[in-house]
Order: sequence, then C-alpha cells, then structure tokens
Amino acid sequence: MTHRKRPLRSAQWFGTADKNGFMYRSWMKNQGIPDHEFEGKPIIGICNTWSELTPCNAHFRKLAEHVKKGVLEAGGYPVEFPVFSNGESLLRPTAMFTRNLASMDVEESIRGNPLDAVVLLVGCDKTTPALLMGAASCDIPTIVVTGGPMLNGKHEGKDIGSGTVVWQLSEQVKAGKISIHDFMAAEAGMSRSAGTCNTMGTASTMACMAESLGTSLPHNAAIPAVDSRRYVLAHLSGNRVVEMVEEDLRLSKVLTKEAFENAIRTNAAIGGSTNAVIHLKAIAGRMGVDLDLDDWSRVGRGTPTIVDLQPSGRFLMEEFYYAGGLPAVLRRLGEADRLPHKGALTVNGRTLWDNVKDAPLYNDEVIRPLERPLREDGGMCVLRGNLAPNGAVLKPSAATPELMIHRGRAVVFEDFDDYKARINDPDLDVDASSVLVMKNCGPRGYHGMAEVGNMGLPAKLLEQGVTDMVRISDARMSGTAYGTVVLHVAPEAAAGGPLAAVCNGDWVELDCDAGKLHLDIDDAELEARLAESDPTAESRRIASDGGYRQLYIERVLQADEGCDFDFLRGSRGADVPRHSH
Ligand code: FES
Repeated sequence: MTHRKRPLRSAQWFGTADKNGFMYRSWMKNQGIPDHEFEGKPIIGICNTWSELTPCNAHFRKLAEHVKKGVLEAGGYPVEFPVFSNGESLLRPTAMFTRNLASMDVEESIRGNPLDAVVLLVGCDKTTPALLMGAASCDIPTIVVTGGPMLNGKHEGKDIGSGTVVWQLSEQVKAGKISIHDFMAAEAGMSRSAGTCNTMGTASTMACMAESLGTSLPHNAAIPAVDSRRYVLAHLSGNRVVEMVEEDLRLSKVLTKEAFENAIRTNAAIGGSTNAVIHLKAIAGRMGVDLDLDDWSRVGRGTPTIVDLQPSGRFLMEEFYYAGGLPAVLRRLGEADRLPHKGALTVNGRTLWDNVKDAPLYNDEVIRPLERPLREDGGMCVLRGNLAPNGAVLKPSAATPELMIHRGRAVVFEDFDDYKARINDPDLDVDASSVLVMKNCGPRGYHGMAEVGNMGLPAKLLEQGVTDMVRISDARMSGTAYGTVVLHVAPEAAAGGPLAAVCNGDWVELDCDAGKLHLDIDDAELEARLAESDPTAESRRIASDGGYRQLYIERVLQADEGCDFDFLRGSRGADVPRHSH
C-alpha cells in the first residue's frame, strides 16, 4: 500500500474523541460495527441504483456484495447507500426528466456523508451520467461498476436486440407483414436475463463512455450481467478504490479534456448513441471541462464505425464481449494512430493505452478492421443553419446514405400528441420525399426531451415499402433506434427556437456533408412567424404548476449545453461545513 497522500475525509466524522465523534460513531455502531473499523480505515461508499422499478439494475444488491468483498479485502470499510434509481423503461414522462434530480441526490449524498471514495453502481441509461455528474461535482476518488448487458434476446430461433426489435416488429405490424400476436410473442424472449439493453443503445454506449473516459476498470462495459466475470470485476473494483484513496486519485485527474476526446472517438468507433452527446457535455460541465458540439465534429466525425452491433449493425453485446470488448476496439484505434490521447490516466493508475495495447481480439466480424468498417462515416454529424442556430445532430451509422443530402417538403406535427393522432391518417399529405418535422419535444417542451425523434413512418408509406424518411425534431432518440433522424435541434421550439416557425409545405434542406440544416424561407418571414406566435407560453404555463417540474423548466439548459441545470455546472468539491451536534 502506498503512503496516503491526504488525510481521510471520514476522519472529520469518526476521528475525534469528543461529543461529535461519540455521536457519529455511536449511531453507526447500532449496525454491529466494532471500534477498530473506525480507526483510520478508508470509508468506501457504494452508491447503489438498485430498484425493482429499474429492471436493468435489479441485480445490483448482489453486485454490491462483491464490491464489498473487494473493499474489505483491501483494508477499507464499505457502506452501501441508495440513490434515486432513474430507470428508463417505466419512468414517466422520461428518465431524462429526472437525470439531474438523481445527480443532485448523488452529489449531496456523497458530500454530506463520511466517505473517502465512492463506487458508482450504474447500468440503465441515465444512471451512468447521473452518478458521474453527481460524483464529478464532489471530486473524490470514484470508480464506476456497470451492471452489464442482458444475454442475447431469443425469438423464433433468432437473436433479437433490446429495443431495436420493438421498432422493427412494430413497423412490420403497421405494414401488415406480421400479426399483433406475433409481435407480442417476442416480448418475453427479448429480456431473458438480468442486465441492461443488449444492443449498442444508450446504456451500452454510456458503459463504453465510462470505460473510455478511464473511470472504470478495463472490460467494465461489456461483460454480460450474469457472467461470473462481472462479479470478479466488481470485486477488483472494490480492491482498487481503496488504493485510489491512498493515491488521492480523484475524478478531476481522470476526467480531463483528453479523456472526453478519447470518449468521442470511441463513440464513433462503436456506433454509439446520440444521447452520449448530451450526457458527455453534462459530465464535462460538472468537471469544468470545456466541451462543445464542434468537438464531436473535430474529433469524432469521419472515424470508421468498426463495431458491428445493433442498431447500426448485426450483433449484440454478448458477442461484443466474446470478441474482445472495448479494450480490443481501443487497441485497434491506437494501432492505427486513431486514439487521440493514449496517455490519458485511468482509475487503475495506468494509462488508457497501457490498459489496452495487448488486448486480445477474437472476432473480426464483430470488431472489424478499420480497413473494412461497418460504416466509413462514423461519429456524429453536427448540423447548423437557420433551423438549428445552436446545432442539431444526426447519427450517420443509423441513417440511409442516400437521404443524408435531401431537400423535401415539411409535414409538420405541433407536438407528439399531434403526431400520434395524424401519422396514420390515410389523408395525410405525405410521400417518401417529405420531411417529417415535430416540435415541442425538447427539454422544456416535453419535460426531459422524450426519445420520440425517430417518428415511426406513416402506415401508408410502410405498406408501399418505404423504410426511411428524413425526420427532424428537438427530441432525442433511443440508442436502440435508427433512421435518417435529425435530433436535439437547439434552441428547441418551446424555447422560441426557429423550429417553432416551420409550416406544412415549407422546403427543408439537410446536407450532412456541409453540416447544414436549412429552412428555405427568408429571414424576415422567419422572424415574422416567430413574432406572431408565443412558442414558450405552454412551458411557462406548466412551470406555474410548481414542484420539480417548475424547477426543471425554469433552469434546464438546452441540448447543446447538455440539459443540465444551469446552477449545477461546475465542481463544488467535497468540503462541507462542520456539523456540530
Ligand atoms: Fe434500461 Fe435499456 S431500458 S438499459
């Protein structure tokens, strides 16, 4: 064990022989803790997002037990505590609505308690960014342990992917190719083990982001949830976090600008979720790291997508792990001189490159050579123009190449309810060249920016065999979804952005090569239309209802700023005023 670089933070609670020390220790002793556990051992918090209402994280009690074994073995004392479990599958209106709330819970739970370091147990989409955001604002030694993906879904003898199969089969129902009975039969086969979505959706993407940022041990992203090696990794993370206290290896030493650039490049190589653009910005903002949409163009765009996973490709997370997992991807990037910062520090005390330079790779189909990628044009396409002055994004690896430069007539939906009411109307004036535009689904317009940007196509076009159309909105899209979908238009309609001014029949131009999203009306007309309406009225009315919704709508930042609350940006450190009983 190395020499401790700074006094234990927990000593402020347990290290004094006075009235305060008595009280702090005494109440803890009701759990059967002997005196020697308070005598200079690092106290390791295990921040647990376990909940039966977050099925993806429902196995976390067992995961926590393995972390505890590792902490105890290394000479620390583990204390497990619950935080808001921000599950994607059940929470309404969206789990994104409560991501910032969860991060506040994490931040104040860490800062207010006698913790020297923390292990973040994360899995379902928003739990990873929420916990990293909260921990970054405290900046104590922190290590991420992910719950791991589910086993491959199975249906009618084939592998099926979480989420992705829902989009695919529901469109087949609408097109009359399968019955609703066939559709429902896939339900049990899709989610047949503990764990997170098994596609390269947002949960797997954020797990890969955490690993490429250096905040977890190697292989954390991909080991299946039910694989015994997942529990070995939890144990080893418990070992390691105790050493991190001795080394004072805090998040600020890991979450540097270089680390974020490595993550952006990684996202391109894995064909990761567009949600990562928002979450990385929010995490960086907590750390005081300047990251913006142009970094995604500069660092990520043009990187080949080499991981052949659904929704962009064929395979699932099980195959990804068996093929070598994220270390194999990073090795491929590094050997081709495409890993921007090999020297970035990771939580095990080694550099990212040291961790992966000898990583084995077992399957060239799942993790392809850079010369034979799934898509040449990976990364995020960042778009700007009079329709998105502060930017919008499109994921090329999920899009139809022929539609990435397109000019079409707008078919406008005022909000998601309007879209649902009219999309399958046989009289809807739409054809395959139309551009579907949906408003009021941004952070303010739909309380957390719903994942509805991949609007399902009109039934009458599906019946004609149309498989993709250009779609534009201020919404997000599930990481399991696909299509030529422009997302995160900023500012959103409900914040007075130009999206609010689009009318049926307007011509809209998308040019992914030029990074352009243009509404073909003149500036005076655009301004006149915006002046005529008051697109912010509805969100102001909802805000007046009070509660967390009011805080959210009043203080949430736009998508290009990461949708954090304005007052939460920055690292506030772990100091807390001394409490006196
Ligand atoms: Fe939880 Fe996909 S719904 S990971």
